Amino acid sequence: MCGIVGYVGPKATVDVLIGGLRRLEYRGYDSAGIAVISAGHLEMRKKSGKLVNLEAEIAAHPLPESHIGIGHTRWATHGAPTDGNAHPHLGGPAHKLALIHNGIIENFAELKAELLAEGTRFASETDTEVAAHLIAREYEQTHDLFAAFSSVMNRLHGAFTILVVHQDQPDVVLAARRNAPLVIGLGTGENFLGSDVAAFVEHTKRAVSVGQDEIVVLRADSVELFGFDGTPVAYTEFEVDWDASAASKGGWPSFMAKEIADQPQAIADTLMGRVRPDGHVVLDDIKQISTQQINDIERIIIVACGTASYAGDVAKYAIEKWARIPVQVELSHEFRYRSPIVTPNTLVIAISQSGETMDTLMAVRYAQELGAKVFAICNTQGATLARESDAVIYTHAGPEVAVASTKALTAQITAGYMLALVLAEARGALDEAHLTALGQELLHLPKKVSEVLENISQASDLGTAHANAKSVLFLGRNVGFPVAMEGALKLKEIAYIHAEGFAAGELKHGPIALIEEGQPVIVMVPSPDDVDSLHPKVISNIQEIRARGAKVIAIAEEGDGTVGNYAEAVIYVPKTDAIMAAVLCVIPLQAFALALSTAKGLDVDQPRNLAKSVTVE
Ligand code: AGP
Repeated sequence: MCGIVGYVGPKATVDVLIGGLRRLEYRGYDSAGIAVISAGHLEMRKKSGKLVNLEAEIAAHPLPESHIGIGHTRWATHGAPTDGNAHPHLGGPAHKLALIHNGIIENFAELKAELLAEGTRFASETDTEVAAHLIAREYEQTHDLFAAFSSVMNRLHGAFTILVVHQDQPDVVLAARRNAPLVIGLGTGENFLGSDVAAFVEHTKRAVSVGQDEIVVLRADSVELFGFDGTPVAYTEFEVDWDASAASKGGWPSFMAKEIADQPQAIADTLMGRVRPDGHVVLDDIKQISTQQINDIERIIIVACGTASYAGDVAKYAIEKWARIPVQVELSHEFRYRSPIVTPNTLVIAISQSGETMDTLMAVRYAQELGAKVFAICNTQGATLARESDAVIYTHAGPEVAVASTKALTAQITAGYMLALVLAEARGALDEAHLTALGQELLHLPKKVSEVLENISQASDLGTAHANAKSVLFLGRNVGFPVAMEGALKLKEIAYIHAEGFAAGELKHGPIALIEEGQPVIVMVPSPDDVDSLHPKVISNIQEIRARGAKVIAIAEEGDGTVGNYAEAVIYVPKTDAIMAAVLCVIPLQAFALALSTAKGLDVDQPRNLAKSVTVE
């Protein structure tokens, strides 16, 4: 949601800003704009729609050469996605100040009333514009931009990353962060700001994550950080561990297609250095947690949203089966606003690709207030979630650009398996042979995922063939259940069709009424060797829906000799551990959704109404 870029330095600022905004496009937006200062004058261009509209506007009305500026992609909250509501917003009657904002200013109505009473004229319907006018007004009184900026930041409630430039101070960008992401890129004789490192990674890999309630004073040759009270704050830099090419399509027709194909590497990178050849998992990431503390854990609560919550569901099956610790999985926004029972012996695990999902951040803060320790499973270095958690297990999926999560999910599930095995070993819940066999099976996952991808055309062809489907249902038991829900979510978000995932055992309790002649149903079929006898139960479920007209596509294990008798099509995946099968079974569902969406001519990478990183509650 909303992308933010700031730059001070010798390069052509318009190019740096547009390049940064392009790399942030994946976050989701519906208008874009930039402001630069040149020869003591502020100039702004903004346009609704995609970045190409802004580029056309700049081509029609070129901007002068400049060495300082700010850029923004807006995902509309307050006010429709029009040219006028696009950012930047100008402050003061003389329009000397430009401001961009990501987040929501919750007390904007009372601030606006105050400004209206003084006769301020507003040019937009946004919550953001109040901040621009307030800072401009204070600056006119004191001519101290930092003082005006920090004073206004202290008056705002809600979530905001705000960047400001003022034509009277043409060498500085001021920025503030509360409950919304902001990262600094450190260059030589130039410095950058971005919603995430993608904004500037083609220029520098040295980055600083801005903390909660901090103000940045960014100049070409210096970066200073302060608290909202004006106290200087020390910072530490980190090295971005992926390069700009990792966030490009690299010849694939879409980011989603590339990211599906990236999965063997993403899983291998997530496992790297963490699973010994003998099958023992060593997670240095949580080494500060003692065996005693692990033994003291009475309950685990996993908080996450969307696809990440399905990774949490799979982790629940793994942790309960292997480590024998009770686990509940909660959508972050539900957990935060009820009265969950959290004790000091509750471990909270937050899963988030971006590490900036506001619902999950709020859940984590709440859990910490209640005294819980929080582990994060996160894909983004320097993200707020990583900073605020007691320990972080990074997934190493690389940048995920498509809104629909694919490789981040399988990397998250992989991290969940590793954590489950570490907990199992610490608690002595599995015998050595079983423990190490599972660890070794983890090491085989990247190759087995590659094998699934080698045969992915079958799932893609089925997706294309279902381009006119009005509804697709998904069924599964055990880990097949969250996989079914993920398959349905993928279809909803990128193909805009009705899709639902059900626990196959729940069918007869209601959903079977949905089945009518020709209804496509994709069923996750467990291994025929499965010790819990789930295979015959799922075959029975298939027979029940086929008897009522369903057309069944089965995802089944290679060598399953019976399933072919009960399905119109079977996609076979390699044999693995029953819980680890989740990683293999979900991949054909990703390809099915991608092909179906493509056949409908939709934008698979940037589906309507969605943002990659949901930074407001
Ligand atoms: C996945 O395809 C979705 N775009 C969405 O459900 C996503 O997984 C969710 O918003 C959580 O994001 P996060 O992992 O960055 O917290």
